[in-house]
Amino acid sequence: KTVAIVGCPFGGGGIPTKAGVDKGPSHIVDAGLVTQLEELGWKVEFDGHQRFESLVPENDPPIGKLKNPRTVSAVCESVAKVVGGHARAGRLPVSLGGDHSLAMGTISGTLDAYPDACVIYVDAHTDINTVATTDSGNMHGMPVSFLMGLSSGVDAFAWLKGALRPERMVYIGLRDLDASEKRILRENSIRAFSMRDVDRHGICRVVGMALDRVNPDRDRPIHLSFDIDALDPSVAPSTVLPVQGGLTFREGHSVCDAIHETGLLVALDLVEVNPSIGDVKDVQQTVRVACSLIRTALGETLV
Ligand code: ARG
Ligand code: MN
Ligand code: MN
Ligand code: MN
Repeated sequence: KTVAIVGCPFGGGGIPTKAGVDKGPSHIVDAGLVTQLEELGWKVEFDGHQRFESLVPENDPPIGKLKNPRTVSAVCESVAKVVGGHARAGRLPVSLGGDHSLAMGTISGTLDAYPDACVIYVDAHTDINTVATTDSGNMHGMPVSFLMGLSSGVDAFAWLKGALRPERMVYIGLRDLDASEKRILRENSIRAFSMRDVDRHGICRVVGMALDRVNPDRDRPIHLSFDIDALDPSVAPSTVLPVQGGLTFREGHSVCDAIHETGLLVALDLVEVNPSIGDVKDVQQTVRVACSLIRTALGETLV
């Protein structure tokens, strides 16, 4: 029962004009995450945040529309090795972002260790734009397309296998998709539960249906990738792309609780906390919620 905290102070895949997401991990750890997890009975391994400085190329001009492509690639490749190493050693990596382009690293690492793993992606966004469809060029809007091999042909990402199968991944919390992304979901038959599904069925049934899709026999390892912007901005204000109508505090925790209950969680990401957005209270609230979601996914109960 060991958790490895993988702090990823990286924002190179985020929105260039809204810097600060690289400060997310230090805020989350400084809020006491290590002690909190120890109090839950976990052995916690954390010896400082990842250092990416030496990986960043001096010159990283766009490739097509992609911003900072070599930097994002090098950082994610490094994260994949670290996460994969922990997973193979039987530790549960908890990766802290940082922007969501990091999922290319974390999920690749999980799939290296557990090729039959499935992914539950909790987000307001699908992050599945391809090299051809991205409008912004921000790579935090693209990790899923690379993981599924839908953005092939970019040499800088040759290390990435693109082996994630569409039927092994499911979304929860969606409400802000580009038209191109809706088309990609349809073309690849990717199951997606939007906020409309949460309205209609309730969050517990939605998580159940999501698990039925990616994990029908409840025997596959689960990677939970949680973008804090899945939550309503009133709950988690300090993030770059807040979208109204998100998961409530309890709904977010219900997802984590239900995943913990499966006993199949092998890796967790908590990303897109940006301490430069909002006032001190907003940041404190967002960081607290992030810690609380992580604790719930790792077994904290209310009574
Ligand atoms: N779809 C938009 C884009 O491609 C927004 C992506 C938001 N992703 C995120 N990780 N916050 O740029
Ligand atoms: Mn995201
Ligand atoms: Mn998002
Ligand atoms: Mn958003």
